[in-house]
Amino acid sequence: MAQVTLQNLTKRFDKVVAVNRINLEIQDKEFVVLVGPSGCGKTTTLRMIAGLEEITDGTILIGDRVVNDVPPKDRNIAMVFQNYALYPHMNVYKNMAFGLKLRKTPKDEIDRRVKRAAQILGISDLLDRKPKQLSGGQRQRVAVGRAIVREPEVFLFDEPLSNLDAKLRVQMRSELIKLHDQLEATMIYVTHDQVEAMTMGDRIVVMKDGFIQQVGSPMEVYNHPTNQFVAGFIGSPAMNFFPGKLIAENNALWVDLKDFRIKIPEKRTHLYEHYRDKAVVFGVRPEDIYLRPPTEKGREFQTVEAEIEVVEPLGAEIIIELARGDHTFVARVEPQTEAKSGNRVTAYFDMSRFHLFDADTERNIVQP
Ligand SMILES: Nc1ncnc2c1ncn2[C@@H]1O[C@H](COP(=O)(O)OP(=O)(O)O)[C@@H](O)[C@H]1O
Ligand SMILES: [Mg+2]
Repeated sequence: MAQVTLQNLTKRFDKVVAVNRINLEIQDKEFVVLVGPSGCGKTTTLRMIAGLEEITDGTILIGDRVVNDVPPKDRNIAMVFQNYALYPHMNVYKNMAFGLKLRKTPKDEIDRRVKRAAQILGISDLLDRKPKQLSGGQRQRVAVGRAIVREPEVFLFDEPLSNLDAKLRVQMRSELIKLHDQLEATMIYVTHDQVEAMTMGDRIVVMKDGFIQQVGSPMEVYNHPTNQFVAGFIGSPAMNFFPGKLIAENNALWVDLKDFRIKIPEKRTHLYEHYRDKAVVFGVRPEDIYLRPPTEKGREFQTVEAEIEVVEPLGAEIIIELARGDHTFVARVEPQTEAKSGNRVTAYFDMSRFHLFDADTERNIVQP
């Protein structure tokens, strides 16, 4: 098995810089997820690792070997695509065996590998079926099976679940996590879906416009986003942002939001003092806003008077949209909460859980 190292990896298509000098070290047996909006360079990165796309600049290592000029078939990598196009005229067995046959793998070895992969994926009883006799989820398993039989050192997945319906996606998600545990292989997984990234990755790599924004464990990235983009992209509903100005008054620091002010807790003022009189963006996640504040001792809340605009009951929780002056924000509250649109309420912001961003650079003023 193998680690994958990307050094200053760059891809230009004419004027578009699809991947911009990215550096990343993926450990042996790690499950790493590249996540970001459409067009941020995920597929291009994966295709360069696979050797399907020529690199413009930089270096790719698999294990200790520089593979820049190694053809795809010699990289010991298998890729599963979103559009997994099985051969329609071949049954499941032949679909999985095909690549090995091309490589002139001995027949009994092919048989052993196909049967083992089928068993791992729970499709042993489907080997005689043609793709059109399979459900979407079963087809997806066959596509993964084609990769498994190669026994590669590194698996690359490009949005493999995006053609499946929501329920099946959740199921396949946990199957792929189990598969990773079982195969003990290095896996690099690409998705635009932040929930998929959070739930699947040992580490996630958030990308935007060809650049890596942040690398970390899902909870690191969630709790300590390096900038406003990551803060807004990871988490649903998204973090609330309040643009304002940091001011000092009455021996305290405040975020002045025109319609109201937020007092920075005393024990955190030293983190932000140097931003006095500068434009900042206050960020707080919907689950850190309460309509009935928890009563444990020692917790500090900022109260904000607001009007409820929309109430969305989801069963296990309620999503509430609130407005105060020019600011609108979202709270995620307990299902017992009684809330009606038009109600005036007091919202409580948990002041141990907020972030302040530099309004110009969008960087989190406190870096992880
Ligand atoms: N073959 C190509 N020719 C020109 N531009 C391309 C090509 N492939 C991708 N791009 C551009 O590179 C950028 C990154 O694309 P891609 O890696 O497919 O993003 P993602 O997979 O994150 O959606 C996009 O702006 C896309 O339009
Ligand atoms: Mg893509």
